[in-house]
Parts: sequence; C-alpha cells; structure tokens
Amino acid sequence: MDEGESTRSVHAAMDPEEVTGSVQPPIFQTSTYVQEDFSVHKGYEYARTHNPTREALEKAMAELESPNTPATGICFGSGMAAITAVSQLLSSGDHIIACDDLYGGTVRLFDQVLSRYGIETTYSKLSEGEIEKIAQENTKVLWLESPTNPLLSIHDIKQLSSQAKARGWIVVVDNTFASPVLQRPLDLGADIVLHSTTKYIGGHSDVVGGCVIMRDKELIERLKFLQNAAGAVPGPFDCFLTLRGIRTLALRMERHCDNAEEITERLTKRTEVTRILYPGLISHPNHHVATSQMRRFGGMISIEIEGGETAARKFAAALKLFSTAESLGGVESLINHPWTMTHAAIPEQQRRNAGMTPGLVRLSVGIEDIEDLWADIVQALQISSQ
Ligand SMILES: Cc1ncc(COP(=O)(O)O)c(C=O)c1O
Repeated sequence: MDEGESTRSVHAAMDPEEVTGSVQPPIFQTSTYVQEDFSVHKGYEYARTHNPTREALEKAMAELESPNTPATGICFGSGMAAITAVSQLLSSGDHIIACDDLYGGTVRLFDQVLSRYGIETTYSKLSEGEIEKIAQENTKVLWLESPTNPLLSIHDIKQLSSQAKARGWIVVVDNTFASPVLQRPLDLGADIVLHSTTKYIGGHSDVVGGCVIMRDKELIERLKFLQNAAGAVPGPFDCFLTLRGIRTLALRMERHCDNAEEITERLTKRTEVTRILYPGLISHPNHHVATSQMRRFGGMISIEIEGGETAARKFAAALKLFSTAESLGGVESLINHPWTMTHAAIPEQQRRNAGMTPGLVRLSVGIEDIEDLWADIVQALQISSQ
C-alpha cells in the first residue's frame, strides 16, 4: 500500500517489541549479549555489530527512502561518518566527480583526507555536456547534493544518474536538505542515498547521526562490512532520539515548507535583499527540475543582503527568533554564515568559483508561527540597512 508521508513517518519500523509489546522500540543500552554457547546466540554478539535500537532506526530510514522497493539503511555516528564509510568503498587511484557546491565538511574530507589515500575529486557545476569533459578512466563515483548546501542549487538526479550509470559509476546523493518526505533519490536512479540525520530526520537539534540507504545487495554487504570494520556506529540513545524525531518528520517538513515558501515570496518584495536562493521560486534557474523531483522545496533559504558582509552581520545580530548557529533542520529557526562557519574549510577561490560570497547567509526556517518569523526578519532587515 502506498501510504501518505505522515502515516509512513509515524509507523516506520514500529513493530511491537517481542517481550513486552512496547509500542516504540526500546533503548537497548548494552555493549554485549549473553550467549548460550561459544557459537550459539540470539543473533546478537556485540553492539558495534548489532543493536536492536539501531536496527529499528535503520529499518525506518529504509522504509522512508524506499517505501515500495526493499532497501537497507545503515546508520553511523554522524553524517560525516556515513560519508566517510561510503568513501571507503573506493581505493587508491580512484576518482570522484562531485558537484561544486557541497557541504564544507564533505569537501574537507575529499580534499584533505581522501587525497592522502590517492583518491582525487573533480568538482563541477555538472551543466550539460560537462560530465563527458571531466570523466576519467578511473572515475568511480558521482557525488551529488540536491538541493546543495549552501547555494540551494538543484541537480537533475534522474538525468545525471542515467549518464553516470551508463559509465558504471556509483551515484551517491546526499539528501539531507530535502529529507525523504520531499525527495527520494533511489526512485530517481541513485545507488546510495545518505543523510546527516542530525538535521531534519532528528529534527530537534539534540542528536548527531548519519545514515546510508541502498537497494543493491552488493553495496549493502560492503557498507555493512565497513560499518562494523571501521566502527563509527551511533549509540542506542542517539538512535532512539532520531527515531523519535522521525515520528513527526512529515508534519514538520510541511510546516518548514509552508514557512520557507511564504518567507521567500515576501522577501522578493524587499529592497534590502539582493539575492534569494530557493528552489521553490519560479526565478530559480532549476525550478522546473525541482518541481519534477521534489514534492515541495524545503525549509532552507540562502540570501544576500544589500551592503554585503557588514549588512549580513547586522542582520544576523538583530534577529531574535533566528539564532546564529551551525546546523539546520531543527524545529527552531537558525541563521548561518557559510563563509565563516559551515564552509570556512573550503579554500576561498573554490568557494567563490562555486558562487558563494561573504555576504551570503543561510536560513534554516523553523516551524514557528509565520507572522512571528516575518516580523523578526523585517525588523532585522531594517536594522541591516541603517
Ligand atoms: C548536506 C550535509 N551533509 C552532511 C553533513 C554532515 O553531517 P554531520 O554534521 O551530522 O556529520 C552536513 C552537516 O551540516 C550537511 O549539511
């Protein structure tokens, strides 16, 4: 049955626990399990390898990202741990093609860690015809974010996946900004979808985590092996908190979208704002692609304010409901300055090439009342222009 998004979020992996019938998966706070004999156990030996709370979260993530086709979720202690595990599919001498607007931590991993192991990355806008130009014999992975962090660019996942797969590459999509409620990359042809569950999935800015979801049996086995072999697993309490967040994911996403859509529409009429990046705006260069692959356009907006970085600093300082903080996707509104915060690890020229400027601020629009958020933005815009 193709359920609605809210039903799916509420019921994902909600199998009553066998001993007590507990409605929600309990927190199995243990590092090991008693065995009957050296080789006889109940399927659980050691908690890095198996933990029932983590398994419930993994099942829930697979159900959300792939409701109609069997898939497997594999969880990690952070989004970066999930990204690292996927990168460990590669070997020295392999090559990655990635979109040029990516979370700064991902770029840092690719350029400062993977490069030491002989894995090179080429960044590209991936506009038409570009893949042919930058493809190499040793290219193994196409790495996408869509929408991207922080420029909210949209990549055509279906089209790029078919091009990449025709060459035998693995297609990875970081779906953190959209969440499975708004976009399901596996249905669009991606091989691996991953999340920083720290963001919308957890949804309350109280837990860090990551997850990788796949359908292909060989990839699943390889990632399961890496989860255990490298060992960057999340703790059971963190899994419980993330699952708790999932119950309201669809409800929260609708409100994030309502608020962000309304704010961007209103911002288009403000003279203090010189650039608005939001895939839901008809003026967004890839609005038509966003419409074809996303249910709605999400809660993230990036803007530039008249007066550049100085005005942006005044704007952020004047906001009362939007706190200045790293991260995104929680119920509360946040503002971030990618240039000095989330994307500071990327070399300046690379940031500029991608289209980032020191005046850009990224808003994670929360689920507060729209008129309160708007009043806050208006008073801060007025201060930014003084
Ligand atoms: C798009 C994206 N992917 C991955 C990550 C990394 O996730 P984590 O902070 O949970 O390690 C982030 C963090 O901001 C992100 O924004």
